[in-house]
Amino acid sequence: MIADRVKNMDASPTMMVAAEAKKLKSQGVNIIDLSVGEPDFHTPNPIKDAGKIAIDENRTRYTLNQGTVELRTAIAAKLKRDNHLDYNINEIIVSNGAKQSVFNAILATVNPGDEVIIPAPYWVSYPAMVHLADGVSVIIDTDEKNGFKVTGEQLRKAVTPKTKIFILCNPSNPTGSAYTKDELQEIAEVALENNFYVLSDEIYEKMVYDDFNFVSFPSLHPDLKKKTILVNGVSKTYAMTGWRIGYAAGPESVINGINKIQSHTTSHASSISQSAAIEAVAGPQYIIDEMLIEFRKRREYIYNELTSINGVSCYKPEGAFYLFPNISTFFNRHTETLRIESSFDFVMFLLHEAHIAVVPGSAFGKEGYIRLSYATSMDHLKEAVYRLKKTLNHLI
Ligand SMILES: Cc1ncc(COP(=O)(O)O)c(C=O)c1O
Repeated sequence: MIADRVKNMDASPTMMVAAEAKKLKSQGVNIIDLSVGEPDFHTPNPIKDAGKIAIDENRTRYTLNQGTVELRTAIAAKLKRDNHLDYNINEIIVSNGAKQSVFNAILATVNPGDEVIIPAPYWVSYPAMVHLADGVSVIIDTDEKNGFKVTGEQLRKAVTPKTKIFILCNPSNPTGSAYTKDELQEIAEVALENNFYVLSDEIYEKMVYDDFNFVSFPSLHPDLKKKTILVNGVSKTYAMTGWRIGYAAGPESVINGINKIQSHTTSHASSISQSAAIEAVAGPQYIIDEMLIEFRKRREYIYNELTSINGVSCYKPEGAFYLFPNISTFFNRHTETLRIESSFDFVMFLLHEAHIAVVPGSAFGKEGYIRLSYATSMDHLKEAVYRLKKTLNHLI
């Protein structure tokens, strides 16, 4: 009785690891969770206050389906202030998290059989969403040596007359790598020569380190605006994952299509969250600095520790809060009970022997790697490094 589109979806390895970790926790095992995809900080007080005021002022009714004029005006001002982009509010739609923005954008543009080019390693939801839209994912494998970034040449080779979207995740989940202006320029040239949309997922825009200069994709050329569906949101930047506010900015025809889909599915995002999000994008931006300073410290620490382990290599990511180390050197090693032949086996080994939860690279379409998140306290990271080093010594 279940629809084929659900039956044909892969069970997420992330979920399998999470379920196993939960089982061990319920048995009293002290698991250090490095698998999470959200900041461990609280939403800053001025944003929480804006939410409380919205409740007290009874801003608790339906809003416009595409989001309030006030929030879309604040987003347009943010895109101008931070990204030098000119969007009017009819070119912006607010959704229930950036995840819904991405899904709506795919649903609004992809016909059955259309191709969506996705670089691997990829955020797990992209191929699943393409599948739900009856599209075809065309995966481009990327290389650690190149920071897991797609080159213009690779993209050009993957384009066919059926290509509808190229998904650019910058900075990337799961690798944390971010594209320089020159690297983006190569992508832009291919996009300008061809007829497809670039879905530019910029949710980790603010999480960049070592003075890295983040460039928003459509800002590269005036003609890119009509070819780009820009997705961003407040979840990561302002530690607001639970508030569920994301947005898309793009050609009015696409935004109108998304508006139609959203009007018949979830309607607008929470009225209270929308009020809080205005404070996030329009309020003082120094509130994110404290979080960034802490992320920067943790990134240095965990990167240095990981790469000091014999056999582990890791691209030093420019952004986000993930590391994506290569652990393939441990393949074909074993314990008394387990032989490691895949990133999934390695993750299970870490979970059972070191009591650390991470995500296998296979979940992101890249075998031989694991993703670990440093969105957890320095104390947890130190303990995780201690356990990791000790446990790896047990491998035969
Ligand atoms: C690359 C990427 N895009 C979009 C999202 C979705 O964010 P939101 O919580 O706003 O739906 C995530 C969250 O993990 C992400 O990693």
